[in-house]
Amino acid sequence: MATSVLASLAAFVYLQAPLSAASSHHGLRHRSLGHSSAPKMCSASSAEVVNNSTEIFPYQTFHSFTGTPPRLNITANGEELAEGLIFFGPNTESGAGKPKEVTNFIMTDTGDLVYAHPPTRAPTDFKAQTLNGKPVVTYYTPVGTQPFVGIGWGNVHILDDTYKEIHTVCPKLNLHKGDGTIAECGSDLHEHYITEDNTLLTTAFNVTQYDLTPLGGTADDWILNAIVLELDIESGEVLWQWSLIDHIPILQSHAGVPKNGVKQTGAIDLYHMNSIQSIGDYIFINCRHTWSSYLINRKTGEIEWTIDGETGGDFGKLPENGTFVSTTRHSQSVIHTDRICIQSWEHHGRLHNMTESSVVLSYFANNNNAATKEAVSKGIVLELTLPPNPDSPPKLLADLYDATDLQNAWAEGSTDILSNGNYFMGYGSASVIKEYGPGAANGQDVRWTGLFDAIGGGDSYRAFKQVWHATPASPPSLVISSGNIPESLSKCTNSSDSALAYVSWNGATDVTSYDVYAGSSEDDLELIGTVDKQGFETVFPIHSTYAAVMVSALDRNSSVVKIN
Ligand SMILES: *[C@@H]1O[C@H](CO)[C@@H](O)[C@H](O)[C@H]1NC(C)=O
Ligand SMILES: *[C@@H]1O[C@H](CO)[C@@H](O)[C@H](O)[C@H]1NC(C)=O
Ligand SMILES: *[C@@H]1O[C@H](CO)[C@@H](O)[C@H](O)[C@H]1NC(C)=O
Ligand SMILES: *[C@@H]1O[C@H](CO)[C@@H](O)[C@H](O)[C@H]1NC(C)=O
Ligand SMILES: *[C@@H]1O[C@H](CO)[C@@H](O)[C@H](O)[C@H]1NC(C)=O
Ligand SMILES: *[C@@H]1O[C@H](CO)[C@@H](O)[C@H](O)[C@H]1NC(C)=O
Ligand SMILES: *[C@@H]1O[C@H](CO)[C@@H](O)[C@H](O)[C@H]1NC(C)=O
Ligand SMILES: *[C@@H]1O[C@H](CO)[C@@H](O)[C@H](O)[C@H]1NC(C)=O
Repeated sequence: MATSVLASLAAFVYLQAPLSAASSHHGLRHRSLGHSSAPKMCSASSAEVVNNSTEIFPYQTFHSFTGTPPRLNITANGEELAEGLIFFGPNTESGAGKPKEVTNFIMTDTGDLVYAHPPTRAPTDFKAQTLNGKPVVTYYTPVGTQPFVGIGWGNVHILDDTYKEIHTVCPKLNLHKGDGTIAECGSDLHEHYITEDNTLLTTAFNVTQYDLTPLGGTADDWILNAIVLELDIESGEVLWQWSLIDHIPILQSHAGVPKNGVKQTGAIDLYHMNSIQSIGDYIFINCRHTWSSYLINRKTGEIEWTIDGETGGDFGKLPENGTFVSTTRHSQSVIHTDRICIQSWEHHGRLHNMTESSVVLSYFANNNNAATKEAVSKGIVLELTLPPNPDSPPKLLADLYDATDLQNAWAEGSTDILSNGNYFMGYGSASVIKEYGPGAANGQDVRWTGLFDAIGGGDSYRAFKQVWHATPASPPSLVISSGNIPESLSKCTNSSDSALAYVSWNGATDVTSYDVYAGSSEDDLELIGTVDKQGFETVFPIHSTYAAVMVSALDRNSSVVKIN
């Protein structure tokens, strides 16, 4: 009787979870319904940190889960942070302080793991999106050989809110990889964006021959052409494509072209398109190597307008402040006000609030390529007048950098504007994530910094803070061990007769407590109490006079574990 009431209450919480707007600071929901009379048992977080190696960045280990996520090194000043969970994915392993594990992670801004994907080859762009009105998480992985650093040929994975993979989008078209092979799957690593029509936009690259004499090259040089693909998610069929070489003059490229010709394997990356967004009848793309973003009319295929980091493009001179800060990594900064170009080698162009008369543009201004790693990377937010009018040039709304912790990202990165007006930045090739308050528009308002690898040890292509609710298809995981009772539990433990129970539920976002069932056998389990969930993995003492234990959350039971 008590159990079924509990089960229906739990089911009620579960059904409400994805819809209710009432959620806590971290996007985690508190189980606030009156609970059964089962006594509250004590519990603690059991994450252990392994930090004794100079080779590997400190990481967490658990008893009931095999994942080894980084232990974020967090600095926070206590000012209000936006609601949401942090999505990131260390995608390479190199050098000292490399990540223990390459995969996608979701964490709270207090550094608790929420979800660790199984180890995955070079994942990028892990984020929550909406497909057919339902929340999904998505990411990219490469397929087959990857002859170019920083360009990918692979597929896009779409997982529902139980973490079941519901689509693997592998676009098949004639894309040449430059090593003599055709891509088996043709999505590039930089962007995959689900449109309001539930189609998928992805970046794609093709190695092809082109006359680069106007750029000082030869008549039959090899280039990496960039292509916007719109795909049917179900079939991977290409619905629309837009080839940059057919529309964007090669003279706009800042990619260096050698005089003596290039081989296929060294094809010139003229555009390096790295973001795509769909806005009604328009597609908005950003190209790192032209320092420019373009609004494309989807119906006509014409470029409506261009914003160019050097010339301003159709918009007139870009603002001169957004002071260009130059520094040598880890040394004192030097601020130059003479060299002003606020948008170069940039990533993640995003438009916000587009109307007939204005639009807000945000992007991550790397200000560096692989050769120049000295300039400070920033988040830049501009207000543009529409239609473009050089007499009403772009206004700088926010110039985001941390004067006490300047970063030089030579690749990757993202800048987002969050629902409460905060800004969220993933520094790409510099393994840092920062949240800025709205005050950053007029100065420094750094509220949160998280380091997930040693700088140079790894990177996360982008990082996001998003509201996300999920209940995994797999059940909670429980293990019992006879380990030493942690200090935090000593006050509520009978040391002579206690074992330790460890419970976690990888990916569950809305659990705040676990019900504990125990008894003399598997068939004789009774609710003996409830424990508060603590961090990713909760540990609690249990009398070893019980022969079997089980935990339950949101009406989902773990397997029954025997104590001996
Ligand atoms: C690892 O470092 C953290 C933070 O400095 C510290 O609290 C913890 O005790 C260390 N763990 C080990 C096993 O050395
Ligand atoms: C690092 O920690 C592991 C696991 O606790 C241990 O086996 C190893 O000996 C430690 N290494 C050093 C150098 O302390
Ligand atoms: C955390 O990061 C800061 C800033 O980079 C560094 O000074 C500090 O040593 C790090 N702390 C730990 C425990 O790794
Ligand atoms: C890719 O380039 C090759 C030439 O190298 C060309 O035959 C092929 O059609 C191109 N593919 C696409 C999708 O444009
Ligand atoms: C930007 O320019 C305005 C107007 O010239 C000035 O008041 C402001 O201090 C400048 N900001 C920065 C960050 O240089
Ligand atoms: C978009 O418009 C809404 C409503 O006016 C406003 O609250 C929000 O701050 C705007 N966002 C940006 C990025 O300007
Ligand atoms: C310790 O065990 C005794 C006897 O079973 C019990 O009455 C008491 O509540 C237990 N204390 C704790 C903290 O579990
Ligand atoms: C979970 O276990 C409890 C106790 O054995 C049982 O009453 C309940 O029906 C189980 N729930 C599910 C969904 O299996």
